Amino acid sequence: MQEILSVRDLNVHFNTSTGVVKALNGISFQQTESQIYCVVGENGSGKSTLALAIMGLLPETAKIVSGSIKFQGVDLINSPPDVISRMRGSDISMVFQDARAALNPVLTIGKQLEEAISAHNTYGKQKVQSYSEEILSELGLSNPREILRSYPFDLSGGMCQRVMLAISLVNKPQLLIADEVTSALDVTLQAEVLDRLKTLCKDFGTAILFISHDFGVVAAMAHHVGVLYSGTLVESAPVVDLFSTPTHPYTSAMIEALPRLDEPDKKLISLRGKSPTASEVSRYCPFLGRCNKATVICRSEPRPLLSEIRLGHQVACYNPLCFVD
Ligand SMILES: Nc1ncnc2c1ncn2[C@@H]1O[C@H](COP(=O)(O)OP(=O)(O)O)[C@@H](O)[C@H]1O
Ligand SMILES: [Mg+2]
Repeated sequence: MQEILSVRDLNVHFNTSTGVVKALNGISFQQTESQIYCVVGENGSGKSTLALAIMGLLPETAKIVSGSIKFQGVDLINSPPDVISRMRGSDISMVFQDARAALNPVLTIGKQLEEAISAHNTYGKQKVQSYSEEILSELGLSNPREILRSYPFDLSGGMCQRVMLAISLVNKPQLLIADEVTSALDVTLQAEVLDRLKTLCKDFGTAILFISHDFGVVAAMAHHVGVLYSGTLVESAPVVDLFSTPTHPYTSAMIEALPRLDEPDKKLISLRGKSPTASEVSRYCPFLGRCNKATVICRSEPRPLLSEIRLGHQVACYNPLCFVD
């Protein structure tokens, strides 16, 4: 499998009136083509900042302090703007949580799909129409012809989300960045949309960088998972490995906290304390204040770096759990 995305030692800071906010601290991971790599982390852990950095859409107050982002070997941080904008929308596309805000309120859905298709193809009117209908129905919209004539305000939030996914997939990108795309949907709708998204991306050979705060959703979607905590990747592993043998105390606590059908009497455990805010990031392990496995080394040495403990399974911890096979 070919590598499609490579992020190395990425550090992103925001300059604010109250000081520097260290949103991403030394993020490194690789994604292979057609793979679903999930980044999971709580609110404020830096997920959207990572997505925006890859897309080259960070606000002006943000600064990529160091690191590299490569898409198919092309440097996304230092390439000329025209190279990046050619890739955006054709090779890489992105869809956000708030789909309605991302759609143009004064254009019909048909026009918006047509614009997305025509930006990278020379299809005739007929082909644009039939292809638009096809992709809308593949995303579960039952009356595509009518939807094409509608405006965003005619549609429900869930329908807008499916339309946004259609627009972002219509050019069969090699990478789709999906930032909390189904978080606002009911659980049953969420499962259906994710299923369709997964099938469509498999057909198109599209890799997904799937971003979510929900470990349950991630378990159902991912091939590989990166756990983000306070701007730091604390664990990265194939999905089965991560859920069967989590090795970072934070990952383990999150998985322990998931309700299980096979253990209805299980007591749900919550984590004590709060994660540090991005303006409180220190040189030590970000999980130190909440970790019940911390030892002297954790209080004296700088933040541990990700290191491989099994094939494909990396953890950033001085005292990883169950590291013996
Ligand atoms: N435009 C911004 N200006 C200042 N700080 C920001 C900005 N955007 C995000 N942050 C801060 O960066 C950190 C990561 O935010 P974000 O990437 O939005 O997290 P997530 O998507 O995981 O909820 C947070 O502490 C957040 O407050
Ligand atoms: Mg976010």
